[in-house]
Order: sequence, then C-alpha cells, then structure tokens
Amino acid sequence: MSRPSALFIVFEGGDGAGKSTQVHLLADALRAAEYAVTVTRQPGGTALGRSIRDLVLHGDHVSARAEALLFAADKAHHVDQLIQPVGQAGEMVICDRYTDSSVAYQGAGRALGADEVQSLQMWAVADLVPDLTVIVDISPAEGRRRRGDTHDRLEAEEDAFHAAIRAHFLAMAAAYPQRYLVVDGMAPAEHIHEAVCARLGTLGVHLT
Ligand code: TYD
Repeated sequence: MSRPSALFIVFEGGDGAGKSTQVHLLADALRAAEYAVTVTRQPGGTALGRSIRDLVLHGDHVSARAEALLFAADKAHHVDQLIQPVGQAGEMVICDRYTDSSVAYQGAGRALGADEVQSLQMWAVADLVPDLTVIVDISPAEGRRRRGDTHDRLEAEEDAFHAAIRAHFLAMAAAYPQRYLVVDGMAPAEHIHEAVCARLGTLGVHLT
C-alpha cells in the first residue's frame, strides 16, 4: 500500500475520556514520521467557531434545536475554511470531535433524533466523512470523576444523558467497523496510542 499523506482522523468520546491526550500523542508520532499535521477541534477550530463555542458551552440556556444548529454552523465553517483546504494541500488533519459528537449529544442526548441530526450534520460538512474515527470509551461515572468540579453546559448533564451518548458512539462503531476503532479509555494512554498506531498501519501509515 502506498503511503497516504492526507488522512482525516477524528477522536470522539464522552467528556473526560482522554481524547486530547491521544490527539497530541498521535500528532507527535505523525510528525516524527515526517508527516505534515494540522490539529484542530470542534467546536472552536476557527475564529467564528471560537465565538460559537463560547455561546454554546459557556453562555446562558440555549434551546435544543438552536444548540444543534450552532454546532452544525461551527462544523460547516470549519470544514470549508480549514479541514478541506488542509486535506487538499496534502496534510493530515486530526480533529478532536466531529459530526458524531453532534449526533450523540444533540441527537441522542437531547433526544432531537439521531437521524435528523445526522442529516443536518452531513449537510453542514458537505458529506465529508473521516478516514478513521477513534472512539475513546469510558463510563459516565468515570467521566464525571475525571472532570471533577468543573463542568460546561453539556458536561453538567446527568449520567443518563452521558449514557445515551456513549451508547450512540458504540452503535456507530459497531455499524461501520471499517471506519471506526473503539479503545478502552481506562487503559494506559500509551496502550491506547499503540492501538491507534496499529490501526493506522492498516491504512498505510506506519508509525513506531
Ligand atoms: P470540550 O471542552 O471541547 O470538551 P472535550 O474536551 O470533552 O471534547 O467541549 C465540547 C463539548 O461540546 C462536549 O461536551 C461535547 C459537546 N459537543 C456537542 O454537544 N455537539 C457537537 O457537535 C460537538 C462538536 C461537541
């Protein structure tokens, strides 16, 4: 298999799962193997996205449909302004959260309907699907323990909300195993990283 230069890799999971650690471990490993890498996140990967992030995570109450539209707007702008151009320039993109977060949090968590939110999200991102989505899986109780006392609007929701989100992520991974990798968020970070590297090997990206 030839060495791909531009893959779109996403990390998803509940709040406190340890995604950010994995994002940075993978970015470092790719850079050490001389790949060009852009690391970004949702919401907030652009200037407009950072304004949306403040509104939706730290503002006053936002109605459920408005919340879904704000997250969709963040993604639409982010894909158009950053993810697509960087990919077309031949760079790896690693994104902390993507469309599955919205389908899980707004669709399953807020009960707006997974199918409706999935359609909205796919329209927003012009059908751009990641090459690989890594689900870092932890229980709601463990997520709450790791977050401690600091919570944004979504993190503050009760465990049933987080359980619905977890179930959605696992269902997506089970339905599309060729596009997903599920890792146990309770495992040591280095072990999780090794599993991610091994999976990338199957896509032609060989990291040591
Ligand atoms: P963030 O601080 O980025 O959390 P984390 O480090 O856990 O990724 O907060 C993002 C929050 O927004 C998180 O609670 C998940 C939520 N979210 C949605 O509800 N819908 C979305 O589409 C996205 C991208 C995030």
